[in-house]
Amino acid sequence: MLHYTITGSGPALVLLHGFPDNHAIWSDVIPALAAHYTVIAPDLSGAGNSPLAGQMLLSDMADEIAALLQHLGISKAVIAGHSMGGYTALAFARQYSHMVAGVSMINSTSKPDDEEKKETRRKVIALIENGGREVFVRQMTPNLFAPQFAATQPQVLNHKLSIAIQMQEEGIINCYKAMIARPDSTDVLQNASFPVQWIRGLHDNIVDFRKSLSECQLSPINFVSLYRNSGHMSHLEEPEMFVSDLLYFSDFCSSPDKCKPFQY
Ligand code: MLT
Repeated sequence: MLHYTITGSGPALVLLHGFPDNHAIWSDVIPALAAHYTVIAPDLSGAGNSPLAGQMLLSDMADEIAALLQHLGISKAVIAGHSMGGYTALAFARQYSHMVAGVSMINSTSKPDDEEKKETRRKVIALIENGGREVFVRQMTPNLFAPQFAATQPQVLNHKLSIAIQMQEEGIINCYKAMIARPDSTDVLQNASFPVQWIRGLHDNIVDFRKSLSECQLSPINFVSLYRNSGHMSHLEEPEMFVSDLLYFSDFCSSPDKCKPFQY
C-alpha cells in the first residue's frame, strides 16, 4: 500500500507529485485545499515512504492509486497531477475513468517522450547507476523554476531540493524508465467524460506551453491557465493562484451547476 496523507473533509481531491518529489511538495497548499476537500497526497512508488515492488510502469502506479482509493472507500475523485503525476493521472483515467471527477494537469502533458528525450533519460540512468544521483538532483533543480523566481526565492528552491534529494537511485531509475515507456495519452483526453484543467508556466523548461497548447482543446471541457511568473513548479511559484484555480476547477467537477465558466 502506498504511503499517503489525508487532510480535511468534503469531496475527494488527490494530489500526485512529480519527479523527483514526494507528498511533502504539497505541504504549503494542502491547508487551503483541505478547507473544502478531502485531500489525499500519496507518495508514488519508490518515493518518500512508499516501497518499490520491482519496475513499475505508470499504469502500475495507477493501479496502486486505485487500490488506495478503494481502501479509503472513495469511489470518485478529482485527480491533480504535477508533471510525472499528471502522466500518472492520465494512466489512472485510462484505466479507471469511472473513478475520475476531473483531471488537473499541472505543468504536465499527455504527449509521450520523443526520441531525443528518451536518449537524454537513458544517459541520466547511466549517470545515476555510476553514483551521480546527488549531482543530477542538484543540477536539475534550479532549471525547474522561472529565472526571476530562482533569483529571489532561494528558500523555496532549497525546500524543493531537500525533498528531491530524498529520492534514492532505484526510485529515480524506476521513474525514468516508466516515463520513457509511457504511451501517448491524447486518446484519454479525446474520450474524456470529465473536465480537464491545464496549468501552464510561461517559463517552463520541461513542458513548453507553446508546443503543447493543442492538447488543451482535445477534451470536451477544458480550463486553461498560463502562469506568467512560473517555470515548471507553479504550485510552489504561484501558490495562491494555484490554490484558487484548483479549487475553482474542483468545485466545477464536484458540482458543474455551481460555477458557470464561459467554457461550459
Ligand atoms: C517532473 O517534474 O515530474 C519531471 O520533470 C517530468 C519529466 O521529466 O518529464
